[in-house]
Parts: sequence; structure tokens; C-alpha cells
Amino acid sequence: MRKKIVAANWKMNMTQAESAAFVKSLLLDLGDITDIEVVIVPPFTAIAKVMEALGPSQNIKLGAQNMHWEQNGAFTGEISAALLRDLFVRYVVLGHSERRTLFGETDEIVNRKVRAAHEAMLRPIVCIGETLEQRDKGNVEKILSIQLRGSLAGLSEKELHETVIAYEPVWAIGTGRNATPEQAQEAHAFIRHTLAKISDETTAERVRIQYGGSVKPDNAHELMSQPDIDGALVGGASLDPRSFAQIVKAAREEEL
Ligand code: PGA
Repeated sequence: MRKKIVAANWKMNMTQAESAAFVKSLLLDLGDITDIEVVIVPPFTAIAKVMEALGPSQNIKLGAQNMHWEQNGAFTGEISAALLRDLFVRYVVLGHSERRTLFGETDEIVNRKVRAAHEAMLRPIVCIGETLEQRDKGNVEKILSIQLRGSLAGLSEKELHETVIAYEPVWAIGTGRNATPEQAQEAHAFIRHTLAKISDETTAERVRIQYGGSVKPDNAHELMSQPDIDGALVGGASLDPRSFAQIVKAAREEEL
């Protein structure tokens, strides 16, 4: 059984004060949730504040939105896995489509980061997904296969198992137009099939694959009920603690 994982990707939003208020409200709503893994991914500047606000709650984990592949050194403006670990970060989002398209990240760069994350015992959430043009041309599987093989090259079975994949069709991110549950399931099944080819069936069955792209409280349950959808990476709707809490609860088998 794969434990569902729901993550809040705040992107370039949320001051320290807003972050603390968010966590307070989320904890009230979710209590000490244990059946779903919840990850908050603040901007770097709010990570420590979120940690402080979480207090003794061990069930909500911290993530970061990016990192550099080197451990330290002369890389002005960058953050390393070791510096993230120092802030008790457990997950790191890598290869988000905004990083790929706005900041030129290639599969090779993503792969360096993924390997550096594992070396530092950080769990990567590796984002892949096709553009609308690629989908219209019938190239979804080709693109997903290239991104997966490139981003995950050289990982051991254990590292692969400890990697989370986020399928985020680029045309669904921040557009209000989510993939239908059928479209998403089809892509997720293909991703799992490709993971089995990269490693083996047993490992592929254990890898969690999140869906991301306009996830909202009203579409979350149907999406996450699909057999190969193991959670969500939520952008816009994760900025409001109420709606994020609803999405987390929607990850449960039975809707409340
Ligand atoms: P969205 O973003 O939920 O606002 O579409 C998802 C993401 O970019 O991770």
C-alpha cells in the first residue's frame, strides 16, 4: 500500500507572518493526521517559520522548492541540500515546469539535483509533464519517458523508491483547467509502467506518483481515487489553509 502524499507548493508567496497563520489554521483543521503524508513547501525565507509554527507536530513535513546540486561553495544565490537539512527539510521539489521553462533546467540538471538530494538524505519530488502542444501532437508518452529516464538516471532501487514523481501537465498548472481523472490516470499508469522498465515491477509499485495542475477541493477526491494517483502537488489552492485541508482530507479512501 502506498501512503498518499499531499504537498502545498507555495511558490513565490507567503511572508513569515502569513506562513505562521496558515500553519496554525491547518493544524486546527487537520489535527494530528497520520494516514496521509502532508508536506508544506514554503519559499526559503519562510521555512524556519513554518518549522517553528509546526511545533511538536511530527506528521506535517517540510519541503523546499529547489536546490543546487553542489554541497557548498561559491554559488551566489543558491541553496544546497546540506543547508536545507539544517532547517529540517525532508523533501525537495525538483524540475518543476516553472524551473524548466523560466530558468532553463534540463533533465540533466534535474538529475544532478536528484542525485545530490538522495546523497544528503532528502527525498526529491520530481516533476514531469507535457505541454499542450506536445499533447496535441500525440507525444505525451514520449515526453514523459524522456523526462523520467533523464531525471532519474543512475538511481538505485532504494533511491527510486524514496523518490516521489509529480505528474504535472504544463497546460493544467495555474490555469484552472485540470486533467480529467481519466487523462491523469492514463499518464500515471504509463509512468509506473516506465518506472518498471527503468528498475523493476516491485520498485515501480512502491513509488508514489502525485498529480499536480489546478487541483482544488472539488476535483481532488476524484483525481486521487484513481488507482495510480497517490496524492497531489497543489499550487494555487494551497495558499488557503481551509482549501488545502479539504484537499488533504479528500486523499482519504472515503470522502468525509
Ligand atoms: P496549481 O499549481 O495547483 O496552481 O495549478 C500546481 C503546481 O505548479 O505545482
